[in-house]
Amino acid sequence: MSEMILVLDFGGQYKELIAGAVRKLRVYSEIRAGNICASEVKRLAPVGIILTGGPFSAHLPGSPKCDPAIFKLKIPILGICYGMQMMCHMLGGEVKSDGMGEYGRVAVRPKDPSKPEFTALMSHKDAVVRLPDGFEATAHTDTCIAACENYKLRFYGTQFHPETKHTKGGREILRHFLYDVCGASGGYKPEETIAAQIGHIQSAAGAQKVLLALSGGVDSSVCAALLAKAIPGQLTCIFVDHGFMRENEGNEIEEIFSKHRLNFIRINAKERFLAKLKGVTDPERKRKRIGEEFIRVFEEEADKQGKIPYLAQGTIYPDIVESGKEYGATIKSHHNVGGLPDSLSFTKIIEPLSGFFKDEVRVLGRKLGLPQTLVNRQPFPGPGLAIRVIGEVTEKKLSILRRADLIVREEIDALKSRPGQYFAVLTDTRSVGVKGDGRTYENVIAIRAVTTDDFMTCDYTPLGHKVLGRISSRITNEINTVSRVVYDITSKPPASVEWE
Ligand code: XMP
Repeated sequence: MSEMILVLDFGGQYKELIAGAVRKLRVYSEIRAGNICASEVKRLAPVGIILTGGPFSAHLPGSPKCDPAIFKLKIPILGICYGMQMMCHMLGGEVKSDGMGEYGRVAVRPKDPSKPEFTALMSHKDAVVRLPDGFEATAHTDTCIAACENYKLRFYGTQFHPETKHTKGGREILRHFLYDVCGASGGYKPEETIAAQIGHIQSAAGAQKVLLALSGGVDSSVCAALLAKAIPGQLTCIFVDHGFMRENEGNEIEEIFSKHRLNFIRINAKERFLAKLKGVTDPERKRKRIGEEFIRVFEEEADKQGKIPYLAQGTIYPDIVESGKEYGATIKSHHNVGGLPDSLSFTKIIEPLSGFFKDEVRVLGRKLGLPQTLVNRQPFPGPGLAIRVIGEVTEKKLSILRRADLIVREEIDALKSRPGQYFAVLTDTRSVGVKGDGRTYENVIAIRAVTTDDFMTCDYTPLGHKVLGRISSRITNEINTVSRVVYDITSKPPASVEWE
């Protein structure tokens, strides 16, 4: 890619949001470890550098720092949160952590009186209390320097997060940095790379056979479509049905994919997965066991297919970034079909989507002619309904959840405007109710609906009482083992989207 913004990672939760926001502004971006050496940066020749946030104190020993020589490369820099603190500390300013910190939406006042006050997302305990020589403060909050710049060096800092939609005008701030400060020309479009991707797949595969782990999710489906175009006749797709799919989902996936020239194989492994989860209640153990069993089933099936030498995976860019992370905290072990280990007996791994974000993968899918229902599919976690049944997973609980989930989806699908993701959760609480003339002591279903376009942060969706009432009454009427329905009104952070 000829024009690039380099995002240097210091462990912030929002690095992918930053790189994704830059690409949405039509400038290609890549995330690299924060300690990349300046000579490598020079080789990559980015038009600008963004330093991410991170959970550290820049003034304390042992906190990660960038190579100081990066500040001599004459490349524009934007430091965000920890990135700003680190830059200021390294260039002679002072950072302290004796304040109260600021978390959530905070009012920011630009120094320029012609610019209005705006709200920005803050999430910091430390703050820059003295700027390095040559810098000036360009905005404040009640307690800290909210933004600063060294106009001559083209170094900028924001204590807040312009990459999140909680910051009003954040997109404009990034656009200004990319186009006015870095002089980017823009024009990056993921869909224009399809021909090149097909070429890469063809040269990677040669005349060899390729095996793809297909989950029916957006990533592996788009991967299958690309492979089918690039190497028709050389591809075998395995769909491991772990039994934690939603109502009728396994059959739908089979129906869509068995029509195409993908050599589609479905493995029904429900019993094996349920057996592995017997007695398991801890969310992380559940996720790990499902991930491991998935690999076992996949390996066995791959063996049966004879010696297919190459493996293709629907790994996307965030999967790569997450697995290579150096400083970030693990929130949960995400599992998807992209999580197969390299130690499988394949001689080559082909990952055609490894450079793309989720929204870009959807763009590719549309361009490749996949059905809208598939391309616009809500994200569905690799471990499926198993992490939406709280506590031990049993066939009976799965069947309750499947029915409740279908009702939630049917009712919300019928709305004019739909949240980004919506589903039901079977809690491990039972509650007293009255049905007919009798007392019941039955399950509690939670409804989750979130508004988001990045799935890394979200707001709970304020669904109307009419639809909530309809869902509640349908669930309690149609499923006699449910006595109560509750609505989850937590955003992310502090909650995650999934309950486990
Ligand atoms: P969390 O719960 O981490 O979810 O806030 C963020 C988004 O990721 C989805 N999710 C997963 N996707 N494998 C996946 O492919 C997983 O293990 C997994 N866990 C959560 C979740 O549905 C939401 O869209």
